[in-house]
Amino acid sequence: MREGCEMTEAIFDRVAAAYDSWYGTELGKAADQVERVLAQTMFQPSGARVLEVGCGTGQYTAWLIQEGYALTAVDVSGEMMAKAQARITAVGGQVQWWQADIAEILDQLGKFHGIFSMTAFEFVSQPEQVLAKLYDCLEPGGCLLIGVIAGDSPWSEYYQEAAKQKPTSVFAQAKLYTEKDIRHWQVGGRLELGQCLFFPPTVATAAEALALEERREGRPGFIVAKWVKV
Ligand SMILES: C[S@@+](CC[C@H](N)C(=O)[O-])C[C@H]1O[C@@H](n2cnc3c(N)ncnc32)[C@H](O)[C@@H]1O
Repeated sequence: MREGCEMTEAIFDRVAAAYDSWYGTELGKAADQVERVLAQTMFQPSGARVLEVGCGTGQYTAWLIQEGYALTAVDVSGEMMAKAQARITAVGGQVQWWQADIAEILDQLGKFHGIFSMTAFEFVSQPEQVLAKLYDCLEPGGCLLIGVIAGDSPWSEYYQEAAKQKPTSVFAQAKLYTEKDIRHWQVGGRLELGQCLFFPPTVATAAEALALEERREGRPGFIVAKWVKV
């Protein structure tokens, strides 16, 4: 495994136990709601075989299983993946688990009708090259979707500040990209972009957050990018 990825593995192993607590906070719930609706609406694979990259604790793995996909889930962190495995065992689903750095297994993956990845490409080095190889793993009509925290947004500023305060945090490892960066990546096929998280991390309540979200003003904090194989 590459050196940077060993660091990512160690950091996510360390935060795995507490990772899901974010989704229990008022802000976390509101952010999850808007990101989930956008990503789940945009993800339209051309068949049943789906790969999830950076499954983490299984926040989206459970949904992919409920949708009936034949799922392979990859994550570099054994501790994060163990949480996902426990979640899927509890709901009674079948997943092919693969603990690995995605960049190291690109030639062994096979073909998929859809590839799905949420908040993981911030931690993958050389994302453009990895995405281009993942695109090659798509069946005709298949789609490759990633959701990422938007660079140059109130959320990237918030995470950068958190990283400054705590250099050992997950945020210090993240590299954040703007819509312009993503548009420049040579991945393949037809690119579609979606934006959400139009409320800032300083919002006082979930109700205020969702009201701001409806207005869609200002810089979005989250981008969903989808490449469709043509
Ligand atoms: C912020 S978490 C997101 C987890 C989950 N997708 C979610 O939305 O809750 C990022 C995950 O990506 C994984 N990850 C980061 N770099 C990776 C890589 N190069 N290969 C595979 N997994 C990776 C981390 O271990 C971590 O579990």
